[in-house]
Amino acid sequence: APRVLSGIQPTAGSFQLGNYLGAVKQWVAMQDDHDAFYCVVDLHAITVEQDPKELHANTLLAYAQLLAAGVDPDRATLFVQSQVPEHAQLGWVMQCITGFGEANRMTQFKDKSARGGSDHASVGLFTYPILQVADILIYQADAVPVGEDQRQHLELTRDLAQRFNSRYGTTFTVPQPFIVKDTAKILDLQDPTAKMSKSLPHGAVFLLDDPKVIAKRLKSAVTDSETEVRFDPDTKPGVSNLLTILGAFTGRDVESLVLDYDGKGYGALKGDAAEAVVAFAQPFAARVAELQADPAELTRLMGAGAAKAQAVASTTLATVYERMGFVAAR
Ligand code: TYM
Repeated sequence: APRVLSGIQPTAGSFQLGNYLGAVKQWVAMQDDHDAFYCVVDLHAITVEQDPKELHANTLLAYAQLLAAGVDPDRATLFVQSQVPEHAQLGWVMQCITGFGEANRMTQFKDKSARGGSDHASVGLFTYPILQVADILIYQADAVPVGEDQRQHLELTRDLAQRFNSRYGTTFTVPQPFIVKDTAKILDLQDPTAKMSKSLPHGAVFLLDDPKVIAKRLKSAVTDSETEVRFDPDTKPGVSNLLTILGAFTGRDVESLVLDYDGKGYGALKGDAAEAVVAFAQPFAARVAELQADPAELTRLMGAGAAKAQAVASTTLATVYERMGFVAAR
């Protein structure tokens, strides 16, 4: 079966709607017919300052959310990045074949460092995409299910895989991004020109929030000054985003939804979107709470996942080290 790898940061506490629709929902769908590796990327999280207690709790919480969303540890290898040290080891090697200018073109660094003031940005935030490259290449992934915002990092991954292969001999699979067009960029509900993000909390829907809060967020979504429900991301991004969200949670296609709202206003669309998201979020949150009540079981699953992941990662790293000319310990 083709192999997939993807990761999610544990920083936000609750996943936001965009994480789920853009990525995690695809992870769950792909685990049946792929050899799937999914991880909570705690090493990526420390590129900005983390409170240790919060990072610890959020890592368990992220893992619980992936389980609650339907990632099955029997079908997929579900693990925590820092428990597989080969990621960081390969990350260093990949840093050494990356050009400074090449790393400097990564737009997420520019956005994130601009937000905090570039004097405060860490070197780790700058090299973040190269660690991501290692996450992917160390499993020889064929495809990487992510949202649109990760496309540039996937291009870097392909470039570095090809560069390593041509310098040191074919070693890495060159992966493809797997970006589902419809849900690749869920928009901020207050500013539908921006993507939904945990860093813009007022326009985001956090799946573990109280159902009343979730419903209110959707019902107060910014739309436009017309009244007609149409799918047109360019001129009607707010309405189109609500249609995308409603469609994704109900399994209905957007064209047929549009027909339903003929003659009805935006209020009906918002109310139905709120209902559909709550219908998912409520049992999701209940399942997360159950899983969180047994942290020993979570850490046991993490350990088992890490062992499965490490078996693959260590094989790739050994090949890489040998190709580089490192003298192996005997
Ligand atoms: P992160 O933790 O920011 O987001 C996790 C996933 O959610 C997707 N996503 C969205 N999709 C659609 N609409 C949105 N508004 C939206 N917001 C977030 C992201 O595209 C992502 O797929 N660098 C990665 C984590 C990472 C990774 C990896 C991913 C580390 N190593 C290896 C894939 C492979 C990140 O920060 O994702």
